[in-house]
Amino acid sequence: GLPERVTIYEVGPRDGLQNEDTVLPAGVKAEFVTRLAGAGLRTIETTSFVHPKWVPQLADAEELLGLLPRSPGVRYPVLVPNERGLDRALALGATEIAIFGSATETFARRNLNRTVDESLAMFAPVVDRARAQGLWVRAYVSMVCGDPWEGEVPVEQVVSVASRMMDMGCSQLSLGDTIGVGTPGQVTALIRAITDAGIGTDRLAVHFHDTYGQALANTLAALQAGVTIVDASAGGLGGCPYAESATGNLATEDLVWMLDGLGVETGVDLRELVSTSRWMAGRLGRPSPSRVVQALSPG
Ligand code: HMG
Ligand code: MG
Repeated sequence: GLPERVTIYEVGPRDGLQNEDTVLPAGVKAEFVTRLAGAGLRTIETTSFVHPKWVPQLADAEELLGLLPRSPGVRYPVLVPNERGLDRALALGATEIAIFGSATETFARRNLNRTVDESLAMFAPVVDRARAQGLWVRAYVSMVCGDPWEGEVPVEQVVSVASRMMDMGCSQLSLGDTIGVGTPGQVTALIRAITDAGIGTDRLAVHFHDTYGQALANTLAALQAGVTIVDASAGGLGGCPYAESATGNLATEDLVWMLDGLGVETGVDLRELVSTSRWMAGRLGRPSPSRVVQALSPG
């Protein structure tokens, strides 16, 4: 069966904008986040406190959080790789953070300049300190279906990294098919292995990229396996700068269209969202790759 309600975890301002060539001013990003909240999104991953040389698109994290008006009932998590990132996030009053590990060694090195073990050692004090301060912590695991350098990724490898991150005390796990190669059967098997390892679907989110056009099919498989939290990016923005074959995330509009049709509640106003993505496409100077945004845009 399907859930009555799905929580959309919006990643456009972070996963989306981190991979766009155009670097937007902080004021435009703040307007984007505010419009997403206005469209009914209740969790909006806003930016990253990573090294500014690694992701120059998000180098203005301080400025953005400094000027962003917060809406009651909306959560604004930020990506944090290490203690330096945590210090920066805490200084701006962040109350939700996300750490991000990799199921593969190659991507851990390319994305975090660390082995898998070294990156987990980097995260442990971040989670300890964040939890001691009452922060909510999400754990991402990337490359859960395949890796551009290592090929198909064994399920046991994903389960191992995910378990080690959740054992640190994270509240939510997001399974990332960073390069969008996964297919529904793989997703079903992966979720079964994760829940068998003791991580319940109440703590589980899925994060699909649409590189091979599988993101919606994979999402439906995850919902049928009991997942109720789905990551998506307004207008299908984004990718990942450290994984070349990664294209945009599942578009939030495409997800909402499917869920509306299935009678699954999201609280999102599709028209508001489409008009936000069309505005953003204008700012970026390229059309949205979302099929639903295109279908609902005048000729
Ligand atoms: P490093 O070069 O190994 O850093 O990078 P380091 O620890 O050796 O420190 C070197 C210098 O950087 C030091 O300065 C630090 O203070 C500074 P110095 O003493 O030389 O003057 N530094 C920082 N400055 C600002 N903020 C910080 C910070 N940390 C160190 N946080 C590091 C290691 C983790 C920092 C780097 O590799 C990095 O920033 N990586 C992030 C890359 C990234 O953001 N990738 C995209 C997100 S992941 C993703 O998209 C996947 C996901 O969407 C899910 C999916 O799709 O699967 C989540
Ligand atoms: Mg991603």
